[in-house]
Amino acid sequence: MPEQISTATDTGILQVPETIAIIMDGNGRWAKKRGLPRTAGHKKGADTIHTIGLEANRLGVKKLILYAVSTENWKRPEDEVGYLCKLPGLFFDRYIRDLMNNSIRVTFAGELERFPESTQKVIRKAVQQTEANTGLELCIAINYGSRRELLLAARQYAADVQAGTRDNDLTEEEFADYLFVPENVDLLIRTSGEERISNFLLWQLAYSELIFTPTAWPDFDENRLRECLEEFSRRDRRFGGIKA
Ligand code: FPP
Repeated sequence: MPEQISTATDTGILQVPETIAIIMDGNGRWAKKRGLPRTAGHKKGADTIHTIGLEANRLGVKKLILYAVSTENWKRPEDEVGYLCKLPGLFFDRYIRDLMNNSIRVTFAGELERFPESTQKVIRKAVQQTEANTGLELCIAINYGSRRELLLAARQYAADVQAGTRDNDLTEEEFADYLFVPENVDLLIRTSGEERISNFLLWQLAYSELIFTPTAWPDFDENRLRECLEEFSRRDRRFGGIKA
């Protein structure tokens, strides 16, 4: 079972989760409210990734997984999809130096191949550039869908059995290694008031604490994150057992 490893007593937070996942929702509504195009919400949302990544790193979180583009997001209007493909490039141009200065390691989860070559290139470059960093792992879920992740894992396992490199007694830990994200998630946050999982990390969320906040992702900041961690610290996690 996952452990809550560190404490950040200087901030009043009692328990800092090892792994946090965030469904960054509400960019479009945030922009609409201000009479701006939806892409302006995504642009501000990318700045929030930087803010929250730095803060999570400062607090000692090990891994932060952010749901950036789902396997369903391709249904959006062409100009929005085009912008989402450009955004990683804009983000890393602006923030890669800061990520390096804070020893943040970038990884991704999902099937990158669906993106234009140029998008794939900037993401792979950021992963490569930051791979020796020892701070927070900032994992961007991009063209990610959890059912697809589970399906690909099952197919790969079956192929390995057929090839004779695996036997039939697969354990939960071994199965997790077939996934894009092998870790258990301690805390899931979804912004902007929706209370759904939306095909995100179905296996990894088995014992997560869930927090749904009304704040839209572009407005989510260090204080909102702290409130979520304070709430997490108050939760009584028993993992199906009983209190001693
Ligand atoms: C959900 O809001 C957000 C998205 C679909 C995109 C999120 C992407 C980013 C914040 C930037 C990605 C950046 C990098 C570096 C990869 P929504 O559009 O569904 O909002 P709505 O529900 O209000 O319409």
